[in-house]
Amino acid sequence: MADTIQALVVDDEKNITDLLKLQLEEAGFSVNVANDGAVGINKIQGKRYDLILLDLKMPRINGIEVLKFAKENQPDSQVLILTGYGDIKTAVDTIKMGAFDFITKPYNFDELLVSIKNALEMRRLIVDNKVMKMQLGDRKYEIVGQSPALQKVVDVALKVAPSDASVLITGASGSGKELIAHLIHENSGRAKKPFVAVNCASIPDTLIESELFGHEKGAFTDAHSLKQGLTEIADGGTLFLDEVGDISYLVQPKLLRFIETGTFRRVGGTVEMSVNARIISATNKDIDHEVEEGKFREDLLYRLNVVHVEIPSLHQRREDIPLLVDYFLLKKQRARRAKKISPEALKLLMEYDWPGNIRELENVIERAAILATGEEITPEFVALTGKSKSPDLRRIPTRLSLAELEKIHIENVLKANGFNRTRSAQALGISLKTLYLKIKHYNINTPADKG
Ligand SMILES: Nc1ncnc2c1ncn2[C@@H]1O[C@H](COP(=O)(O)OP(=O)(O)OP(=O)(O)O)[C@@H](O)[C@H]1O
Ligand SMILES: [Mg+2]
Repeated sequence: MADTIQALVVDDEKNITDLLKLQLEEAGFSVNVANDGAVGINKIQGKRYDLILLDLKMPRINGIEVLKFAKENQPDSQVLILTGYGDIKTAVDTIKMGAFDFITKPYNFDELLVSIKNALEMRRLIVDNKVMKMQLGDRKYEIVGQSPALQKVVDVALKVAPSDASVLITGASGSGKELIAHLIHENSGRAKKPFVAVNCASIPDTLIESELFGHEKGAFTDAHSLKQGLTEIADGGTLFLDEVGDISYLVQPKLLRFIETGTFRRVGGTVEMSVNARIISATNKDIDHEVEEGKFREDLLYRLNVVHVEIPSLHQRREDIPLLVDYFLLKKQRARRAKKISPEALKLLMEYDWPGNIRELENVIERAAILATGEEITPEFVALTGKSKSPDLRRIPTRLSLAELEKIHIENVLKANGFNRTRSAQALGISLKTLYLKIKHYNINTPADKG
């Protein structure tokens, strides 16, 4: 690296800052020191830092305040928390607030250096724009990828974000639909207002109307009190209709009317309510097919689909795989010595079809990083669910419909995982919920629930 890394050490114990300054300078960093939180904030105001090492417990202004200030004013700088054993719970919270990692005192400098290197490597990805970083409140969203296909998706999303146009996001399971929905919301004028996600597939048909639009007290047997609908909660913000292809046919006219007029009545209500919510929806279903089958209203689809964003599957943008692997390795390992992927293992990943897309890749990397005993992740630690790996298509009877094929595959994966649904869902790269729905839908026989 050509430029010297600029580091700031904030700790009220002078012997710690003295020692760290010495050690860090020996390692080639340029180091500034602050012995209390207020001075730390002043220094952050006055200069850009690549790296901030931060003590949590300090008199007057504590580390949390300094962290908040740093993340607001220098979002690109990486913060590592130094903490005593008593503060581990707080330290864990700081990760959610954007700290890269925490290290307990007394620290071992070699370990600290590993963590610093990981943090700076992550920073390089962010600064080079290979990772788009978004921060909303205390949640972080990061979009990784440089393929033209993904870049196009991000461009369209950013272009449409400031408008109020309805956006329909389509793409395979685990491809990043929800992530893109957040990207749109956060880059819109509504970013400070709620982002309310509704999973249309997980709410029973009988409840979806009152979930969306609320109900008056006594509207039906279980309506013991008045309930606000999610549309009301999304007022001023964004309503994200996830798995919209599964929404009950019965509620579709009401949803259509709401999108057209911004008005609705609560279940059992007489008063016309008016709400201003931007609609983003997502589905992994072939929704045109649903329309043809008469399961989804065409007029509703038109309203939802003013702008269409199609997220390419991971196998259509394989060039993003190495970057994603690096990113997930850094993200999962943090303080541990960064494991590297061997060329042979990477080759396996590049050739695999990734039916569960990014979510599946993330799981595979996480597992491999845990299982790999050495510094390197070699092929034997890369557990790809054999069955879904580029099957020899000639051997699958062509008379099978897609649905039949899906059913058989789910049965096989369930069997292979001893009917453990959590593991099976992971292997399939779908959510547990989706797996439950599919088991029900296909009427798959499973022995007593094994979790
Ligand atoms: N480009 C990306 N960079 C980094 N992480 C990503 C990227 N795309 C997706 N992810 C991560 O992969 C996981 C799955 O993404 P997400 O939930 O957005 O997918 P989805 O399309 O909504 O999936 P599903 O159809 O199962 O609902 C999330 O943890 C998300 O943060
Ligand atoms: Mg989703």
